[in-house]
Amino acid sequence: MKYILNLSLVALLLAVFSCDGNKTAGTLGASDEVETRVERILSEMTLAEKIGQMNQVSAGGDVAQYADALRKGQIGSILNEVDPAKINEFQRIAVEESRLGIPLLVGRDVIHGFHTVFPIPLGLAATFDPALVEEGARVAAIEATAQGVRWTFSPMLDIARDPRWGRIAEGSGEDPYLDARMAEAMVHGYQGREADSTSMAACIKHFVGYGAAEGGRDYNSTFLTERQLRNIYLPPFEAAVKAGAMTLMTSFNDNDGVPSTGNTFVVKDVLRGEWGFDGLVVTDWNSMGEMINHGFGEDRKDVAEKAVNAGVDMDMMTYGFLSHLEELVKSGAVKEKTINQAVRNILRVKVMLGLFDNPYVDVDAAAAVQYAPAHLASAQKTVEESAILLKNDGVLPLGKGLRILVTGPLADAPHDQLGTWAFDGEKAHTVTPLKALRERFPGQVDYVPGLRFSREKRSSFADVVAAARRADVVLAFLGEEAILSGEAHSLADLNLQGSQSELLAALKTAGKPVVAVVMAGRPLTIERDLPNVNGLLYSFHPGTMGGPALANLLFGDVNPSGKTPITFLRTVGQAPLYYSHNMTGRPYNGETLLEDIPLEAGQTSLGNTSYYLDYGAYPLFPFGYGLSYTSFAYSGIGLDKEAYKADETLRVNFTLTNTGAFDGTEVAQVYIRDLVGSITRPVKELKAFERVSLKAGESRTLTVDIPVQELAFVGLDGEKKVEAGEFLLWVAGDSASGEAIRFKVL
Ligand code: GLC
Repeated sequence: MKYILNLSLVALLLAVFSCDGNKTAGTLGASDEVETRVERILSEMTLAEKIGQMNQVSAGGDVAQYADALRKGQIGSILNEVDPAKINEFQRIAVEESRLGIPLLVGRDVIHGFHTVFPIPLGLAATFDPALVEEGARVAAIEATAQGVRWTFSPMLDIARDPRWGRIAEGSGEDPYLDARMAEAMVHGYQGREADSTSMAACIKHFVGYGAAEGGRDYNSTFLTERQLRNIYLPPFEAAVKAGAMTLMTSFNDNDGVPSTGNTFVVKDVLRGEWGFDGLVVTDWNSMGEMINHGFGEDRKDVAEKAVNAGVDMDMMTYGFLSHLEELVKSGAVKEKTINQAVRNILRVKVMLGLFDNPYVDVDAAAAVQYAPAHLASAQKTVEESAILLKNDGVLPLGKGLRILVTGPLADAPHDQLGTWAFDGEKAHTVTPLKALRERFPGQVDYVPGLRFSREKRSSFADVVAAARRADVVLAFLGEEAILSGEAHSLADLNLQGSQSELLAALKTAGKPVVAVVMAGRPLTIERDLPNVNGLLYSFHPGTMGGPALANLLFGDVNPSGKTPITFLRTVGQAPLYYSHNMTGRPYNGETLLEDIPLEAGQTSLGNTSYYLDYGAYPLFPFGYGLSYTSFAYSGIGLDKEAYKADETLRVNFTLTNTGAFDGTEVAQVYIRDLVGSITRPVKELKAFERVSLKAGESRTLTVDIPVQELAFVGLDGEKKVEAGEFLLWVAGDSASGEAIRFKVL
């Protein structure tokens, strides 16, 4: 055994290292035993071996091509290998044939499930159910670790307020509070509440501000002020760090001129200095090399120096650290203690994951946990809670004994239903809506696709219309192919692609009820389609079990409860539009719209407020919105006091009543507005939410406690604190509803 602890040596090392301040209590909460083990391993490493740990390579093809580098200790991590036998071989060479036998950290983008694919993260957020999302992340970890993957590049925490950005699919939408709750859930789910062989290190990404890409164009520059970073974009990352996230990934974008991978302020000052993060920081794919493209570095040596000195520990894919760090240390441009700290962070994660005790997986047992019935059930339940009912004229839920026409390009699209970043989802396991409906209603389902894929253009739908005339109800499954969202897939037009809207218009001529189900990676602009449907259910790419879940929702076995985690625009020209905006000096007040403008109207005759003449300033659907087959009423909204000190807690009381005929679940949301601040404050900010299930007719009085410190923000003086003054508070079923009550902070 290479690792027989020599306690006297260890005690000596402990004394030595602690004096240089390298061992402060970090957010990973590693035990003294872990830290001692890290120090001992580090003490035996040469500079070359240390630098080797900082090198991550994408492993494709034969293991043999990496054997020499593995034996030399030049690879600390691999990504993109998921075959358990191959992973074991990678580990065997690294552990048995290198001088120190340091195991590899095997990473993969397990973004919304491994083999069992869950709804895309935007769909997970639509559940407003952190416990369920944690359960799904746990399922993903169990399946992925069984095959040897012990690190996922998830969750993505990028706040996104522009649906043109394709990666809006991969995050939790526009709101920092919801984003933070989802982040905590996924970190706990991936890593496990107790560390064991199914623990998979989470990687919170992309640090930071990536979702604010100008124009919604992926990889584009961002221009966020420090206050915006601290009040909007950093809080979800801080919450995830506090939840124990073991790793973090820097983002591609330059913010205010500084690419994140070389940004000392966010990585070293905030992440490491202010938050005490002692996990592993990895670059995004070649994001270090791309600092040359940005014009932030002369060459690979220059950007390697900038990245490591900014606090980056591991280089994904450029070999820049492996090629240049030794020379940079010898020249003094990089201190060896900087290298030592990076390697500590890497070794700490490997030790905590137990990789030094057992880096191997049981290849024969790996298959048994994939697609386990409990996993599929969890995925189906997540879809059922994720889908958002956006229109229902009473057509839903559907009755029994109907002749059903199924149509649309997403009705039987097993690949596209999985959505973006579903590398290990296998379409053979997808249960599509068509398959689920045929199984549930044998002999009652006709299928005329109308369009083979979402971008297809057709001029006539005579075949579909004729089939609709023979049916009692039409179910049209529409939306986006998976490739149309995700990385590098930004769109400037958010209408339904191809001839999907024309398909709906044609179906309307058949005179039968039409229910649309939209599966997409973003909120599409569907206003023009709403008049052509009687009901509309929005299901952000639902994954493997979308079919059975959607069937249960459409036929009332499950009552929809999903809420919009992102504002739905009326037109793409409104982007960016989100609920938590500032008031401005001229807030919109329902001013004159285009069709009402009189001829030769005088220059100052129209409403001088912040809006669009053609589309006003309101969205199609606000953040937090979603209908149910029942209805809910809020009453008795009150606070336990009228005024609070900064260290006290608001106790919000309200009664929720299910006023309809169906049992259902409401996501009750609490919003707060700080009326006057040292800087202008948003008109509303989500500060709490709770899923409440009520029988038809049932009422329940609930209490929600919100520490006044949750109202803290970074104001004009740069300090994060609660400012005294008047506040408004709403309790409602979405961000645009409810009556405000007042309270004070003293
Ligand atoms: C990609 C993505 C990042 C992903 C990484 C590894 O470019 O930006 O989210 O985790 O590369 O695949």
